[in-house]
Amino acid sequence: MLYQLPLLLPVAFLFTSTISAFSGNFELTNITVSSLSQFNPDSVEGSYVELDFADQDTPEIEPVHCCVQWSANASPPTTWPGSSDNDTFAVLVSPWAGVQALTLDLQHSYIDNSVGEYPYNVLTKFANLSLEYPSTQYYDCDMSEAKCQSSSAITAIVTSSTA
Ligand SMILES: *[C@@H]1O[C@H](CO)[C@@H](O)[C@H](O)[C@H]1NC(C)=O
Ligand SMILES: *[C@@H]1O[C@H](CO)[C@@H](O)[C@H](O)[C@H]1NC(C)=O
Ligand SMILES: *[C@@H]1O[C@H](CO)[C@@H](O)[C@H](O)[C@H]1NC(C)=O
Repeated sequence: MLYQLPLLLPVAFLFTSTISAFSGNFELTNITVSSLSQFNPDSVEGSYVELDFADQDTPEIEPVHCCVQWSANASPPTTWPGSSDNDTFAVLVSPWAGVQALTLDLQHSYIDNSVGEYPYNVLTKFANLSLEYPSTQYYDCDMSEAKCQSSSAITAIVTSSTA
């Protein structure tokens, strides 16, 4: 049986890193989306998407507050930096069709020694979350104010990662 060992080890290693890369999803709470200028083109108030961002794989980190904002009649930012209080978490609003139809492009990077040895032990996970009113569960909008809020945690399924 000994001859099998060299074959089994690499397989076990691949299996481990694949599992760890995809084991946890993102949890978003306290989502608020506001865009007064959406229904009142005269409004000069900017638009914003705010949320608390947590990763099921790093439960020791408190949910990180993120806020993406842009001026009235402008488009959401197209780059990630500065979107979250902890820069290892990042949010992009893309595409944006209004408070009732937007997608959050989410990412989180952290040290995971199961994916490789330093400096290859940084795992980045990605998820896109579509928020649509009224079809997305727990995403409620008051269209007369163009303002939406989540009433419970919403899970964003992680679909890819890089290490
Ligand atoms: C949501 O916001 C409330 C009030 O700011 C805060 O107490 C709570 O911890 C937040 N929820 C999460 C899961 O971060
Ligand atoms: C930011 O998040 C990373 C993990 O993504 C964590 O290691 C680090 O301690 C956090 N920084 C702060 C200031 O909380
Ligand atoms: C999210 O959507 C963007 C296009 O809007 C795409 O480039 C990106 O690869 C997607 N990310 C995931 C994790 O599917």
